[in-house]
Amino acid sequence: MACEITVAPTGGALGAEIKGCDLSAPLAPDQVAQVRQALLDHGVVFFRQQQLSDEDQVRFTAYFGKPVPHVRKQRPRRVKEIFLISNVKENGEPIGELGDELIPFHSDLSYLQRPGTLSVLYAVEIPSQGGQTQWCNCTAAYEALDNTWKARLKGMRAVHRHYVEAQNPPEHIAHPIVRTHPETGRRSLYVGPHLTKYVVGLSRQDSDALLGKLYAHLEQPRFIWTHEWQVGDLVLFDNRPTMHRRLAFPPDQRRLMKRTQVFNDEIPVE
Ligand code: SIN
Repeated sequence: MACEITVAPTGGALGAEIKGCDLSAPLAPDQVAQVRQALLDHGVVFFRQQQLSDEDQVRFTAYFGKPVPHVRKQRPRRVKEIFLISNVKENGEPIGELGDELIPFHSDLSYLQRPGTLSVLYAVEIPSQGGQTQWCNCTAAYEALDNTWKARLKGMRAVHRHYVEAQNPPEHIAHPIVRTHPETGRRSLYVGPHLTKYVVGLSRQDSDALLGKLYAHLEQPRFIWTHEWQVGDLVLFDNRPTMHRRLAFPPDQRRLMKRTQVFNDEIPVE
């Protein structure tokens, strides 16, 4: 059934809930345009109480770009664009990736030349404590810097690398520390403690000091919004003006997210 799009901002650092939508049915082009605009305006949008097949999730993702199977290998699955994020084990083997520990702030796939543009997470099982995902508004964080900082960061680049070496391309990939969104034209900080390794052209000590200051700035509560998951939530987020972290949860509790991603389409530019 077609939906009447209502966009309700969270009132926090970013994010909006889109109400009244059943994503198990195709969206009309004007509805897609409204969701896209809400995403550009808020960085993260979410829909509650969805009941989606894998095909529904892939169809929804495809409204905004080409869903690409993740570079990381997973067990064979019926719909290859669906990547399982889960600590659940079957016959002693994890069915997905990323376990139960804190995953520090990052933008998806930033260790690639053409990193994650958009990601979609669909909540199938959630723990009763922990496991929230927090997003950081990296545009607001950039805009809050004073002019001296903005001038200092101009032209600077940082290398991003996955902590599992086999995930990385052979070459070290450097992106601008400040990137410009191709659609909104707004600038954002594009560094995070999980995947950014060093600033090009600085000594290790100076690089660590600079990145440490930027992380302390980015991680201020005023730039962060926490999503309290419910089963059936679908969250669509833009990795270009945001980064995210997943909070830890008790290992004896189950968490299962289905993720689809759009990447391989853009090289970040300053
Ligand atoms: C991620 O860090 O990409 C996973 C986010 C989540 O599972 O909430």
